[in-house]
Amino acid sequence: MKELQTGFPKGFLWGGATAANQIEGAYNEGGKGMSTSDYAAYKDPYATGKVDNFTFNVTSKELAEYKENEANYLFPKRWGIDFYHRYEEDIALFAEMGFKTFRLSISWARIFPTGLEAEPNEEGLAFYDKVFDTCAKYGIEPLVTMSHYEMPIALTEKYNGWASRELIPLFDKYARVLFNRYKSKVTYWITFNEMNMNLNSLYTGAGILEDLIDPEKKLEVTYQASHHQFLASALAVKAAREIMPEAKVGCMINQIESYALTTKPEDQLQALKSNQLNMFYPDVQARGEYPSYMARYFADNNIHVAMEEGDEEILKAGKVDYVAISYYMSHVTEAREDASELAGSFDSPIKNEHLELSQWDWPIDPIGLRISLMKLYDRYEIPLFVCENGLGAKDELTEDGKIHDEYRIDYIRKHVEQMKEAIKDGVDLMGYTTWGCIDLISCGTSQMSKRYGFIYVDQDDKGQGSLTRYRKDSFNWYKEVIASNGEVL
Ligand code: BG6
Repeated sequence: MKELQTGFPKGFLWGGATAANQIEGAYNEGGKGMSTSDYAAYKDPYATGKVDNFTFNVTSKELAEYKENEANYLFPKRWGIDFYHRYEEDIALFAEMGFKTFRLSISWARIFPTGLEAEPNEEGLAFYDKVFDTCAKYGIEPLVTMSHYEMPIALTEKYNGWASRELIPLFDKYARVLFNRYKSKVTYWITFNEMNMNLNSLYTGAGILEDLIDPEKKLEVTYQASHHQFLASALAVKAAREIMPEAKVGCMINQIESYALTTKPEDQLQALKSNQLNMFYPDVQARGEYPSYMARYFADNNIHVAMEEGDEEILKAGKVDYVAISYYMSHVTEAREDASELAGSFDSPIKNEHLELSQWDWPIDPIGLRISLMKLYDRYEIPLFVCENGLGAKDELTEDGKIHDEYRIDYIRKHVEQMKEAIKDGVDLMGYTTWGCIDLISCGTSQMSKRYGFIYVDQDDKGQGSLTRYRKDSFNWYKEVIASNGEVL
């Protein structure tokens, strides 16, 4: 029997997480091609009266309009927080907090501007070399996501993104270039960010313009695109094993635990099914095959996923080393017509009266993190990584350059406490990278004012500001947490 583990293990990977399209900026520098995220236009949430005004989906008409009349729109993911030019200062600040790891993603369009070139863009590769070398200077291990909610827009225009099987060899080429180039600098990899979010946004998750597909076939396309990504991910695992046998490659989902609204067996059954729809993703990637429960779901929903000979073998050979999750909230579900559609969605119509909400109406549930970790570990018995967790909140910069964000400290403290409990419950947890360790552009709303960081960045939603970095109160608090390996909270 495994020994009781109290406290965080030695070598626990504390740090913070980001994504290229939310921090880098420099969208048209260094030979980078345009990405899907470069066309997420800002829609002023205050003008529309909605706090959560998702800029997740883009239609073919919108894309054409954005291209034609660019000057009429704001595209915050094009400017990010200028990490492209300020990475040295930012990584130095992470080092000051004592980060052991820094999660970032590589922009596919920086390496292959359209995804179709035979040779990679050297300037793009050289940029990440500099970033990894800076991390190495401080003893920070990079944790690299290969595809975090963006891809060359050319692949959307030519193939309608992951709806097409043609993307698999293109991703394989990209993966092999990354592994060959960075094998001595990067040990920890994640293939796709939150693959289960395909259920919510085909554009953000899979580069698909939804209006170009038959609405009746939306679910089928969703699972077909996911199948293509599963294969691409499994082939990347295979390539990693060949090129850099020491590397650890993980999959990732947005873990939203669904609780049943009542003790009615029908509601309990629905909660189980909703959780299955999310866990389907790591089920395939960690077990190397489609779980049996999906056969009925596919039949009931008239979904036919086209598979080719050899696909099953690829999935089997491409099992991941660990399962990474982002965790922000839990959900409540009940037996109702649209229950399956809500699985994995950020937006749940049923409120949990026991939980407080963030300023963006996200339910705050630290115990849900412990439940999630215990369930996932029971299911796969391979290491887990919490690679995103945090509180999006409005911060106030005081006149003397301070940010008193005790609400963020409180949020993270409670989640760290629950991770510690989960470790005691037997979970093998590799690390914790809080989301948006430095303020960045929100993925869902493209806002700057939804801040997650320990480091404040002086910039507003419209891209105005000095971009000066300030340490928030949480900065010093997290430094202590890391220095004490999670003992001082
Ligand atoms: C995760 C994404 O789903 O949630 C991140 O991987 C994202 O990219 C994070 O930023 C928080 O969401 P939001 O919409 O508040 O930025």
